[in-house]
Amino acid sequence: MSKVVASSTKTDLSGRKVLLRVDINCPIGKDGKLLDISRIKIHAGTVRRLLDEGAAVVILAHQGRPGMDDFTDLHQHSIALSKETGYEIQFVPDVMGPEAIERIDKLRPGEALMLDNVRFLAEESIEASGEFHAKSYLVRRLAPHFEYYVNDAFATAHRKHASMMGFPYVLPSLAGDVMEKEVLALSEIKDPALSPKMFVLGGAKVSDSVRILKNILGSSFGSYVLLTGLISELFYLASGVVLGKASRDKLEKAGALPLVNSARELLLKYRERIYLPPDYVLEDGSVLLVGKGVADNKLIKDVGPQTIERYGELMKEAKVIVLRGPAGVIEESQFRKGSTALMRAALSTDAKVIVGGGHLTSILEDLPESERRKAHNSTGGGALLLFLGGEELPAIEALARSAEKFKLNGIELP
Ligand code: 3PG
Repeated sequence: MSKVVASSTKTDLSGRKVLLRVDINCPIGKDGKLLDISRIKIHAGTVRRLLDEGAAVVILAHQGRPGMDDFTDLHQHSIALSKETGYEIQFVPDVMGPEAIERIDKLRPGEALMLDNVRFLAEESIEASGEFHAKSYLVRRLAPHFEYYVNDAFATAHRKHASMMGFPYVLPSLAGDVMEKEVLALSEIKDPALSPKMFVLGGAKVSDSVRILKNILGSSFGSYVLLTGLISELFYLASGVVLGKASRDKLEKAGALPLVNSARELLLKYRERIYLPPDYVLEDGSVLLVGKGVADNKLIKDVGPQTIERYGELMKEAKVIVLRGPAGVIEESQFRKGSTALMRAALSTDAKVIVGGGHLTSILEDLPESERRKAHNSTGGGALLLFLGGEELPAIEALARSAEKFKLNGIELP
């Protein structure tokens, strides 16, 4: 069903104080530095436009998840954003304390300030409605200092978090440039005439992937999924195929064992539309043929040559190919091969190709411009797949409700 949200590109924000939510969640290397800043580059366009038009812009964002190695502050993000926008993006190591509030109040039109990682606040990550989050301390504390809220964080639009849901309830709220562009571009791809659709799904966020698979396989599109990475290891475990102790331990460490039953149910229901890799590359570089041997204590690090060939053949039939999550441990250069080969295979077909999420962008960017220009490089990982699987994204719903509540002139989103 189409919905109306108000657009920041069609609203005069000059001289206004704007709270801008972006998704600049980046892969972080072992040295703590940003590995890939493509999301920062993409949101730089929105920030620069708002500053050019004379808004005072306060940027709110997250990085990583509590307990993970990539859970860091946003200082280096603000430096990278300054470089990309050509404006000084001030940084305050505070989200809503007295220093943050003082700096927000002092900010003048044409100036920008980045607050620190909003996930430093425990209440941010509670999954709840806009009404609930409107009463969060974050929203009660920050909202009175702003005239508008702009949500540009398409890649977080599937999270019902305070910074995504609460502000539209109390402030006139608009979709940012990235949010608008993504929703319009991706809606085209939902066209049922563009079938079959194939989802090449890897990466490490296993619980998200299971939820996403349920949507994709259960949607009316009849899509196919070609699994790689840790999620494929989970599906092998669910189907009773033994890959080895190291694989099982890795799944346990990732908290994925409770998902075995869900994976089994999906296999029972949709077996003919779920593909699993026939081979893997192990940490010592050897190849494991699934069903012909066991990896024991050696870690699986990539998909193998037979998988690349088989998946490449399957992709030739597709009208839409969505790649999300790396096929291997791409932080180690020798294990980028599978992800790179699958990306190239997708780009060599006639299908529309969408690349989702931070990690795969770095694979795409390593390819020559002539190959990579064909892809729509979406900022979204999980959000992208849920959207394409037909799920309503709560942050977009929240913007639509805000447009109605504050009687904002809207644009229709499909
Ligand atoms: C992402 O990278 O998909 C978004 O930034 C959301 O991050 P999350 O999966 O940690 O909520």
